[in-house]
Amino acid sequence: MKLPYAEPYKIKMTEAIRTSTREERETWIREAHYNLFKLHADQVTIDLLTDSGTGSMSDRQWAAMMTGDESYAGATSYFRLKETIERIFGMPYFLPTHQGRAAENVIFSALLKAGDIVPGNSHFDTTKGHIEFRKCHAVDCTIDAAADTQLEIPFKGEMDTAKLEKILKENPREKVPCVVLTITNNTAGGQPVSMRNIRETAEVCRRYGVPLLIDSARFAENAYFIKTREEGYADKSIKEIVREIYTYADIMTISAKKDGVVNMGGFVAMRSEELFRSAMMYNIMFEGYVTYGGMSGRDMDALAVGLDENTEFEQLDARIRQVKLLGDLLDEYGVPYQRPAGGHAIFLDAKKILTHLPKEQFIAQTLAIELYVEAGIRGVEIGSILADRDPETHENRYPALELLRLAIPRRVYTDNHIRVIAAACRNIYERRESITTGYRITFEAPILRHFTVELEKI
Ligand code: F0G
Repeated sequence: MKLPYAEPYKIKMTEAIRTSTREERETWIREAHYNLFKLHADQVTIDLLTDSGTGSMSDRQWAAMMTGDESYAGATSYFRLKETIERIFGMPYFLPTHQGRAAENVIFSALLKAGDIVPGNSHFDTTKGHIEFRKCHAVDCTIDAAADTQLEIPFKGEMDTAKLEKILKENPREKVPCVVLTITNNTAGGQPVSMRNIRETAEVCRRYGVPLLIDSARFAENAYFIKTREEGYADKSIKEIVREIYTYADIMTISAKKDGVVNMGGFVAMRSEELFRSAMMYNIMFEGYVTYGGMSGRDMDALAVGLDENTEFEQLDARIRQVKLLGDLLDEYGVPYQRPAGGHAIFLDAKKILTHLPKEQFIAQTLAIELYVEAGIRGVEIGSILADRDPETHENRYPALELLRLAIPRRVYTDNHIRVIAAACRNIYERRESITTGYRITFEAPILRHFTVELEKI
């Protein structure tokens, strides 16, 4: 008999999960004004709000923390992380920051000026926020196929290079300070970008003399998909693939809280010494001195080990198999989601589940609340609450997709938890006809309202 699959690690420490009754959850979610961000974490049984900073570090990472050098300047921890970044990404210069958006803040302070245009494949919210905050425009050049949730293609997060080229052709070089390629594409459902598309995007950028910045939050998962889905890469190691990806990049920003498997941290790295020198000043102002930025020495050591370990195939295989398991179970139960299963999360297609609920009643949020009440599972709405109001008309914006993201933290839950999640989704899907009313807003902040919004049941 062929032996079944098993994870390449065993568990050394556990954390108790608090369970609750449906009545308790109904009370708690009402008290939280139907906003899942306002729940206390111990009111949640399975927390799928994000895979960011929520992973389990390895014993080697915890051990590395004890070797952290907390010197203000020139810490040995900094040099260990520097060596790792040079070896894995081939980037000669880097600045540590406290997380991904801080890296964006530092590099965009050095690169952007009001009125600039920054094309990309579905910029992440914070990236877009940092661009728009500087009165610049984030132009989305994602392939159209990404918006069709049922279409099954291997690299659904790609840049449409024709759309990109059109923008570069129509605008003067000095108006486009960089192009942002996000791997994997979080907003499009954790969907990967092929090496071919990375190369072609870089070629377009080079032709127009514009630097390519890779938003690298989930770079290792993207490399896994290149290895397992793209012709010519099956025999290459994840580290070889990562090395090739970054030969096409001029700059990288990273939230290390994802594929670095640390609870906090990030950095910006680049090839140009000149850019490094100008970004350095902003790092010192916003984050900290050049050799620690936003991180303590022990955090830099844990990250150095995390980057090394999480660019090994077995680690990524265990993770992506678990996300796929959730997708496979949902297939079995007929519950619609963004296909194929992504790298870090499953995105339920709320419009295809709550078909009769009017969009004005917040379809994906209604589904998120149902899932919490059903089983204590916390996902996150990627729909019209997140989309905010139009800044000019102040009308609610209703995006084409209403999604409920179920992000799977790394090495935290077992396959049994995954089965509970799938069963809970199935239960809601089976009683979907009975969910006929949604929610209305009673309080909202002018921007990024989803974090603090308050709702009531209609
Ligand atoms: N880029 C991408 C693609 C991201 O997914 C995130 C964060 C960031 C940048 C910003 O990094 O949080 O460390 O400041 N994504 C998290 C999520 C919050 O839940 O997807 P950060």
